[in-house]
Amino acid sequence: MASLRPQPVATEHIPLKARNVAFDWTDTPLHWIPGDPASTHTINVLHLLLPAGERWFVHVYKQALPHIRDPRLREDVIGFIGQEAMHSQAHDDVLPRLKELGLDPTPYTAQVDWLFEKLLGDRTLPPGRARKWWLMERVAMIAAIEHYTAFLGDWVLNAEALDAKGADPTMLDLLRWHGAEEVEHRSVAFDVFVHLDGGYRRRVRTWATAFSALVFLWQRGTRFFMANDPSLTDGKATFKDFLRAGRQGMLPTPGAMLRSIPQYLSRTYHPSHHGSTAQAVAYLNRSPAATAAEAAAGGA
Ligand SMILES: [Fe+2]
Ligand SMILES: [Fe+2]
Repeated sequence: MASLRPQPVATEHIPLKARNVAFDWTDTPLHWIPGDPASTHTINVLHLLLPAGERWFVHVYKQALPHIRDPRLREDVIGFIGQEAMHSQAHDDVLPRLKELGLDPTPYTAQVDWLFEKLLGDRTLPPGRARKWWLMERVAMIAAIEHYTAFLGDWVLNAEALDAKGADPTMLDLLRWHGAEEVEHRSVAFDVFVHLDGGYRRRVRTWATAFSALVFLWQRGTRFFMANDPSLTDGKATFKDFLRAGRQGMLPTPGAMLRSIPQYLSRTYHPSHHGSTAQAVAYLNRSPAATAAEAAAGGA
């Protein structure tokens, strides 16, 4: 069975560092993909899910860290925690702008906070097997979610149709800075899962949970934004819009999403086989927010 162990691509691994970015949302319009509220709001769901979701990653990984014996993986996890904390904050900072534009996200984010802090939080479990089991379930769930953050990161780095359509440059930079760091650290969560447990049945089970939850939360979040958008009289999120946006390159296509499922469930899957670290680093070297952060860190 040794040949079926996931084999990482060594050249895709680099040391990770958090970049202390800041974005100015003053000029970002309500429909930051001009003339396409449905695609705008589908992507806006990231700002609803990621602040609480990535805070939860950090919370779980602080508990997992003492169990990690491999020194390089420990370094990766510390870099990962720093990056995810920054991502969570950056998406959180978009919410006041959405509120200013008439889209109060609080009814939705209150539910997402409950999901991550209570349902997926630390249950009152005694130390020992039960507590370890719950930690491993969450570590495996993070690996499954990170398959999708890497998928979306790779997609947005290559989504030239958004530039051609005149999408807001600040929002594009947020998405691509974040997407590039997701591609950069795409192997960490899977490596942690394999290091601490790696059970195939657990991988499949937690993938099914994470995938169903993502689909549920995403369509609900898109409907929430469309229904509450003050500029739309009868805002609805439709599957037809979703298909159209995929064809136009405003969103990933359903075909690409479906193909990503057997990828993750393959016994030889390793995240380093998908996406390009070189492309991610190239973007980070020209991202306005990341280069400003770099300059500020250099001058400090
Ligand atoms: Fe992230
Ligand atoms: Fe991530």
